[in-house]
Amino acid sequence: MTAVRKYFIAGNWKMNKNAAESVALAEELVRTIGQQYDVDAVICPPFTSLQAVARVIEDSTIKAGAQNMHPEQHGAYTGEVSPEMLRHLYVNYVILGHSERRTYFGETDAFINAKVKAAINNRLRPILCVGETLEEREGGRTFEVVEEQLKGSLDSVKKADTDLVVIAYEPVWAIGTGKTATPEQAEEAHAFVRDWLAKRFDAATAERIRIVYGGSMKPSNAGELLAKPNIDGGLIGGASLEGRSFADLVKAAASR
Ligand code: PGA
Repeated sequence: MTAVRKYFIAGNWKMNKNAAESVALAEELVRTIGQQYDVDAVICPPFTSLQAVARVIEDSTIKAGAQNMHPEQHGAYTGEVSPEMLRHLYVNYVILGHSERRTYFGETDAFINAKVKAAINNRLRPILCVGETLEEREGGRTFEVVEEQLKGSLDSVKKADTDLVVIAYEPVWAIGTGKTATPEQAEEAHAFVRDWLAKRFDAATAERIRIVYGGSMKPSNAGELLAKPNIDGGLIGGASLEGRSFADLVKAAASR
């Protein structure tokens, strides 16, 4: 990590916590890390909790993110939520292209790209997830897969809008498995992403974009991951569901 980039720690609560549980966790985080100016701390509860959580965190430094979004502003898309609806809830970020959405809901790079552009048009900050499966890694295809995801998902995104974008490198085999990529494996992938961004935009732009790691990150392994030059934070699933461990992750980033 270098001085041009501020650490970014986001909690992806996935399909966990009803509204009351979400409020309780958000209140705890406001008490423990609610005035943390050195790190961008973001929590991404389910849609059903977003409004209540946004209210709890409104006077703190914590920001809210959604876990998904439809690219259209409104229309006949039963069950979906639009960028415009999220903006009205004071949501700042949106996770896009998470591997669970790619795997269980068949999301393609083209669809994710439409969402990335819709988010940018609505001044929402996309947290764009990329990452290879175990089979792809073992087949020596990690870089090829990550490059294809980046290329597709960032198609026609303008350089001027990249200040909104955070990239999350999440090796699928490390998500929710307790198996973390080694700091060396993660750093190698992050450096690859940054080189790709430098070619796609330019070196200065690539230096500014945060690339965060996701996949079984927790307080006990965060230090060595965050010590790597191209790892600018984390997208945390399991360890973000408990106030203490998420706060410890934010503090670990703040103390670096
Ligand atoms: P995990 O999830 O920390 O539980 O592995 C990370 C993610 O899926 O974003």
